[in-house]
Amino acid sequence: MDYKAKLADVLTPVFDHQLGQDVIYARIEKPKQLSHGDLAFPCFDLAKLQRMAPQQIAQQAAEVIRDPLFAKVEAVGPYINVFLDKQQVANKLIEEVLTEQEYFGESNIGRGGTVTIDMSSPNIAKPFSMGHLRSTVIGNAISLLLEKTGYKPVKINHLGDWGTQFGKLIVAYQKWGNEQKVRQDTIKELLNLYIMFHQKAELSSSLEDEARLWFKKLEDGDKEAQSLWQWFREESLKEFNRIYNLLGISFDSNHGEAFYNDKMDTVVDTLQENNLLTMSDGAHVVDLSDNGMPPCLIRKSDGATLYATRDLAAAFYRKQTYDFAQSLYVVGNEQSLHFEQLIQVLKKLGFDWADSMHHISFGMILKDGKKMSTRKGKVVLLEEVIQEAIDLAKLNIEQKNPTLADKEAVAHMVGVGAVIFHDLKNHRNNDVEFSLEDMLRVEGETAPYVQYTFARACSLLEKGEFDTKVVASIDFQAEEAWPVVTEMMQFKDVVSRAANQYDPSIVAKYSVDLAQAFNKYYATVKILENDEQKPSRLAFVKAVSIILKESLRLLGIKAPKAM
Ligand code: ARG
Repeated sequence: MDYKAKLADVLTPVFDHQLGQDVIYARIEKPKQLSHGDLAFPCFDLAKLQRMAPQQIAQQAAEVIRDPLFAKVEAVGPYINVFLDKQQVANKLIEEVLTEQEYFGESNIGRGGTVTIDMSSPNIAKPFSMGHLRSTVIGNAISLLLEKTGYKPVKINHLGDWGTQFGKLIVAYQKWGNEQKVRQDTIKELLNLYIMFHQKAELSSSLEDEARLWFKKLEDGDKEAQSLWQWFREESLKEFNRIYNLLGISFDSNHGEAFYNDKMDTVVDTLQENNLLTMSDGAHVVDLSDNGMPPCLIRKSDGATLYATRDLAAAFYRKQTYDFAQSLYVVGNEQSLHFEQLIQVLKKLGFDWADSMHHISFGMILKDGKKMSTRKGKVVLLEEVIQEAIDLAKLNIEQKNPTLADKEAVAHMVGVGAVIFHDLKNHRNNDVEFSLEDMLRVEGETAPYVQYTFARACSLLEKGEFDTKVVASIDFQAEEAWPVVTEMMQFKDVVSRAANQYDPSIVAKYSVDLAQAFNKYYATVKILENDEQKPSRLAFVKAVSIILKESLRLLGIKAPKAM
């Protein structure tokens, strides 16, 4: 039940339809303090229309507004404050949640439109960085949120499996590489070679030329170059897949940059036909000076294509294949210019759909206030971080709940949940200082805290022998639970806002708020007391647990029944 809609419905005729119902709906607020009621409508906009002071309008309106669901309507200054009938509202809501179960909060804002989500996209032969973790978990949460709001998400792992770095790697491998070592510990060894290449390249400039040459060979289909590349790619993917398995995240497409190799000519031809290509220092570029941007590099003087060329080819391909309603790129904010250029070039080609492409940027993970760099070897190995989180969760269980069943599985859910939540709880554009300690915390605004609250609810339901089927009618005394109920009422709105703004942190914060409200209730009310209210209280606990679990699921986090 949408009480905002209810109030808008009642208010529209009261104001003689001078404001549209949707306008009224949009203006309705949730008062900051519960003592000001549950819904508030500010009357400022009506003052001109009705030629009356907003205070007076509020006063008059408050006198005539009546609805069985409203317990009290009062004017405070220019505001109309509405107090809902707690009992009725709570009982309706609980019933709704118990009926809809995990579908509660769903909407059809997306009307089945496809949204491609370019996410994760690590670079082959390099460690999976914290930045790629961000893209992976943010992209996954956005995908879940879009699905919940009626879109059809398509998760694409645009693997960085092409580019001049492969020239460097081939050169480094041929000069200093060892097959055995690469097989044993692929990424670490390839990273060593990569770092070594850059150290030596500082002393000898010819190395860079050699690397360029080998990348060109690779692009031209040279056998030796190809087979080394293939091998690096396969071995790296095996390592990445271990991380995706740990996180429980999968993709609908693994088309990386190399997939577009045979689609590059079309890009260049199309740009040419539209007279968009100009020469600059021997390279083909699209001039973007009109847009106040540096030129977009399409083809180098030696004929090699670039990151942007491959992204243009990918954009063509995605529009053709998926006919997307929106196309998202979950990539760090250091690539903002690249995506602005990409969109601008497509617009110059006359493609209106470029307007539905959005760079979903995010901040950096800093270490001691500085960006982590692969080249200098300053990286945190993600797999180790996740493993450490799981180990810590295991230790916690051993200390606090040694008889718990399924310890391994629970530790996994808690450890991974902590890592994911840590990333999602702040707005994605904030930079995050890397702190393993912070990541592994179990108290405060963390996944383990929310998971723990869910487990507590599950244990209550088990102890109280709650059974949905035997709850005939819910007669829930909502007074003490009201702060929890008002949180629960927000869920649908929270989900659509988070989806709309591509902002999972809204759900993360919400899950903590709901958990806190519930824990307060738990501390003051004897839920399992054997009185006639007990089944209703348990029904309420069940409803809370459903929303807690669903909030976590939307973030990509699992909720164990006990922990
Ligand atoms: N592989 C790139 C990197 O690690 C990210 C790719 C993002 N996606 C894209 N379509 N450009 O920096």
